[in-house]
Amino acid sequence: MNKWNVYVTNEIPKPALDMLAEHCDLEVNRLGKPLPKSTLLEKVQGRDAVLCLLTDQIDNEVFKAASQAKIFANYAVGYNNIDIPAATERGIMISNTPGVLTDTTAELAWALLFSVARRVAESDKYTRMGKYEGWGPMLFLGQDVMNKTVGIIGPGRIGLSFAKRAKAFDMKILYTGRAPNPQFEKETGGQYVSLNQLLQDSDYVSIHTPLLPETFHLIGEKEFKQMKKTAILINTSRGPVVDELALVKALQTGEIWGAGLDVYEWEPKLAEGLSELNNVTLCPHIASATIETRTKMGTIAASNILTAMKGELPPNCLNP
Ligand code: DGY
Repeated sequence: MNKWNVYVTNEIPKPALDMLAEHCDLEVNRLGKPLPKSTLLEKVQGRDAVLCLLTDQIDNEVFKAASQAKIFANYAVGYNNIDIPAATERGIMISNTPGVLTDTTAELAWALLFSVARRVAESDKYTRMGKYEGWGPMLFLGQDVMNKTVGIIGPGRIGLSFAKRAKAFDMKILYTGRAPNPQFEKETGGQYVSLNQLLQDSDYVSIHTPLLPETFHLIGEKEFKQMKKTAILINTSRGPVVDELALVKALQTGEIWGAGLDVYEWEPKLAEGLSELNNVTLCPHIASATIETRTKMGTIAASNILTAMKGELPPNCLNP
């Protein structure tokens, strides 16, 4: 078996790089930031495989430059950064890392939900600034989570994991998606409703849908108007699912109560006005960022490449 020449577009946990280094000639971008497109186009030339990240726009131009590549292994479950039809056309396999980041992502959605509902980030800032002068009966009044209604958009793996945790807080669970999901209902007691009903009835709305043409700006001005004034929106999926300018307006005018965001429409840029708001908790796309999960994502991406190197179909191939 010939040793493959593999390029990794950014530093990932060592166990994954060690796996690849054992069997391949390896080069890793050690700059600690995504490569500009022109450098990426140079670096992929002559490679048999590329391990890429969601910060790399992998399009037809990249595939053309990577004329020897058999596989691009994405270090993410989401793959909206890759032009899959273009890869398929050129006979290049694309793989992702599903499964391993499900619970970790759901946990961050909960961290955001609690942060906004109980004003954790806001009161942390206040305390650090030396403003705390003693217990106050009206200080940072937030909202209860238990016994409230949570609406889940997208009952897939992460939506399910999020919903299972909602059960522990005795919440009523509503969900919406392409179609009713009997497994989701069996495991969570969740009730399938239309998006409109979910928005009207939920105290908390959490988004767990991939970014697709039909989910772009799924939540915008019209949808914010349907939500309760006390509602909190959580997004750990992809930024463009929410119209971020409309969100800023809804938060400024009190159309909704707050938001917890891990993803942004123009990531890493934030919509104007967002960072000045107190009723938001903002994270830098860290939903899968635990040592354990990021290591598993790396070893899965590496094993997708090593499986392809053996001439076999990688388990997470998206375009077999
Ligand atoms: C993914 O995997 O798609 C997340 O957004 C980052 O881990």
